[in-house]
Amino acid sequence: MTDGKHEVLVIGGGVAGLVLALEVADHRRVTLLRPTSDDQGASRWAQGGIAAVLSPQDDIEAHVADTLVAGDGLCDEPAVRFTVEQGPSAIEWLLSLGVPFTPDASADAGYPYHLTREGGHGARRIIHADDATGRAVVDTLKQHVESHPNIQLCGELTAIGLIADGEGLCRGARCLDAGGRLQELLAEDTVLATGGASGLYRHTTSPQPASGEGMMMAAELGAELMNLEFQQFHPTCLFDPEGPAFLISEAVRGEGGLLLNAAGERFMPAVDPRAELAPRDIVARAIDAQMQRTASDHVYLDIRHLGEAAIRHHFPTIHAHCARRGLDIVRQPIPVVPAAHYSCGGITTDLGGATTVPRLYAIGEVACTGLHGANRMASNSLLECLVYARSCAQRLRAAKSPSTAEPIPAPWGRKPVPMGEIEQIREAMRQLMSARVAIVRTDHGLDEAAKGLDQLHQRLAPMMSDAMASVPLANLWHALRLARLTVTCARARRESRGLHFNPDCPVHGDATPHPSRIRLQALETI
Ligand code: SIN
Repeated sequence: MTDGKHEVLVIGGGVAGLVLALEVADHRRVTLLRPTSDDQGASRWAQGGIAAVLSPQDDIEAHVADTLVAGDGLCDEPAVRFTVEQGPSAIEWLLSLGVPFTPDASADAGYPYHLTREGGHGARRIIHADDATGRAVVDTLKQHVESHPNIQLCGELTAIGLIADGEGLCRGARCLDAGGRLQELLAEDTVLATGGASGLYRHTTSPQPASGEGMMMAAELGAELMNLEFQQFHPTCLFDPEGPAFLISEAVRGEGGLLLNAAGERFMPAVDPRAELAPRDIVARAIDAQMQRTASDHVYLDIRHLGEAAIRHHFPTIHAHCARRGLDIVRQPIPVVPAAHYSCGGITTDLGGATTVPRLYAIGEVACTGLHGANRMASNSLLECLVYARSCAQRLRAAKSPSTAEPIPAPWGRKPVPMGEIEQIREAMRQLMSARVAIVRTDHGLDEAAKGLDQLHQRLAPMMSDAMASVPLANLWHALRLARLTVTCARARRESRGLHFNPDCPVHGDATPHPSRIRLQALETI
């Protein structure tokens, strides 16, 4: 069924992958690799919503300007403008599919759906479905995908690498099935929609984060990666050491939630005039500083003053989850801590999702379009998934002439993999990244991280020469090399900007800063 010739192969079934599949499928056959774990992926966990200019009081220029400010001078302005301009029609399209966005029935509503605010936005422009927007969007898209006759859904295959041919074209993907058998899916066009790299860190906002697998699959084929040092930490993940990762949406601050330190004092007004609604890099750093100052492992987010009816109305999912975890957010402030949330860097693409490798496309968090610069503004991510999935789909609607060059054979051997060793290396990598390459990085810390990751690499690399293909091994191999590339980019940036804050180079660099561009070969020169 799968070991053959595919037209458009899409790897990843979050919002970006689902949208692309739907938008191409009336023109070409689509094979969508969507393991069931995608139901635990970042898209479905996204709470806040989708930023777009929808209110008559808002305008395109304002959304562009806010995005550029949040991106701290590193956004690619044409990409920002393109994304923001496409936003309203992308939302119209979602509405036409039946996504149940929260209506606004109030007498003074300028738009039929409720628009909330989040950090960095100067206007109410986040359309949402209560506080579970990702779930509503994914579930609606999934229904359409499942009933489309031209989309073949593969839930049992996990991609572990891409296939190149002798002419440098991407020719599809190598996958493992549930029984651990290797399958080659040859395809005319291949699209990565595999998510970001928050899984390089110990604490994340989603329970099953990606760890940069898609980025490294592309890098193995020679693709350029960009801006890896800009890893976003969401300021408010529920502090619940015994429980699953759970995000407390930025919309909670948008609707008036206040951040308090361990002594119950508000600290954001002294940090930034936008207070709790400053961009995420600023809020996460301020929380980190408070935690250091008070030797505490969390701060508090207080919404008690909104009252029970408003809390239950706006945040039913958060209210219910916290209640299950023994916390009554109507009467108690919510303990929160920053956690790895979103990778602003990724595979360099153009406005139609094309990577630097022919026949390989990347959309969503795995890609770096230039929209987010040094710091993504809240709720611009689902917008980016939608807009670039649709623009990429437009490119892919026309079939291309097939390549005739031979695919390069699989690099895997026959030796079984020591799972205990793999788990140890993964934990050590996450520990290093969380301790040395997180919200604040120092020169010494980055040197230590580079050294530690090199040692882990020396433990893992010999296994790769004759190992039997396995998902945990392939994923760790991807993650570890991406961690090393991330540290390389972080060491090379001799300034503090956006999410990259290094007190040893505190100065914000020049007025025309450069994105970091890197390829896998950089590791050979370290
Ligand atoms: C949130 O609800 O705070 C997450 C949304 C986002 O990351 O844009």
